[in-house]
Amino acid sequence: MIVVTGAAGFIGSHVVDLLVAEGEEVLAIDDLSSGRLANLADARSRGPGKVTFHRADITSSTVAELIQRHRPEAILHLAAQVDVRRSIADPLHDAMVNVIGTLNVVEAAVRSGVSRFVFTSSGGCIYGEPSGDRLPVTEDQVFSPEAMPESPYGVSKKVMLDYLRYYRAVQGLDYVALALSNVYGPRQEPASEVGLEGQVVAIFCRRMLAGRSCTIYGDGTQTRDFAYVEDVAAAFAAARHKGAGELVNIGTGREVSVNELHAQLAQRIDGAVEPHYAPARPGELQRSVLDISKAAEVLGWRPRVSLEEGLDRTVAWFAAHPG
Ligand SMILES: NC(=O)c1ccc[n+]([C@@H]2O[C@H](COP(=O)([O-])OP(=O)(O)OC[C@H]3O[C@@H](n4cnc5c(N)ncnc54)[C@H](O)[C@@H]3O)[C@@H](O)[C@H]2O)c1
Repeated sequence: MIVVTGAAGFIGSHVVDLLVAEGEEVLAIDDLSSGRLANLADARSRGPGKVTFHRADITSSTVAELIQRHRPEAILHLAAQVDVRRSIADPLHDAMVNVIGTLNVVEAAVRSGVSRFVFTSSGGCIYGEPSGDRLPVTEDQVFSPEAMPESPYGVSKKVMLDYLRYYRAVQGLDYVALALSNVYGPRQEPASEVGLEGQVVAIFCRRMLAGRSCTIYGDGTQTRDFAYVEDVAAAFAAARHKGAGELVNIGTGREVSVNELHAQLAQRIDGAVEPHYAPARPGELQRSVLDISKAAEVLGWRPRVSLEEGLDRTVAWFAAHPG
């Protein structure tokens, strides 16, 4: 059995889909604070009895008890407070979920003899703003003095790397930390009209399909590394078996500007209108792209879905699932 926390979320639900397709039994844990049970409907119908869902908070003793009762082979930990802006407004809540909640799961893993823990870190946050000569960013740059997260969310996604090194050295818990780039694809729901910065594909899809103009903050030359969610799910599936004590970037290595992303989506959506530009949002990175060679070496993983194919599939999903 594999435990997946944050299983009803955007990425977590795709991880559950893939594990079930690979014949695994999954204990899915989520407090449904931003996830939705509907996201697990496919996995539950495809593998009756294969997915057990528990609504529980990762900071609670319930989660620790579930892990101790089921003694899974691996824990894939995706549950998190994911809103960078909220982490700035309420750093205590962010740390409560992302640090204390994660430690609660890690402690339960150690007590239960779980041998593998996969942590979800953030390639867009833990490295700070890398200068051009450090791009695409490699994992060892997490030790650079410039790797200063710009938000409490980024700090929480970085500090856990030190905790995990400690737990491996002293408690023998093997782990892999996946530093994800900007993930996009079906089931990504914008948190609000403005949405989270990382949800730009979902926000643009919803607005364009409704015939509304999209807002681009800054001049649109800022770049991101957009990874298709099924590729990212495959990295989690690989990490349940491979890699020991490693931080591994998961992205595409392709740098795409927000202007290019807008143009690519506009080509796919009839009636898309011109974007409008608003002042840049403070704290946003100008450039972000990950070096993904280590993922091939450590996990035998590489992305399979091109941006063009991923956007085709994503637009089709949003068109079939009006919000
Ligand atoms: N989407 C991205 O581009 C991206 C990039 C880097 C890292 N990540 C990380 O990937 C993971 C999944 O993110 P996502 O994009 O699927 O977002 P999401 O909001 O869809 O998923 C997070 C899930 O965690 C659950 N959750 C939140 N607090 C919880 C708690 N206290 N107890 C139990 N469950 C809780 C939510 O209900 C939700 O289902 C997160 O750890 C996030 O930080 C995402």
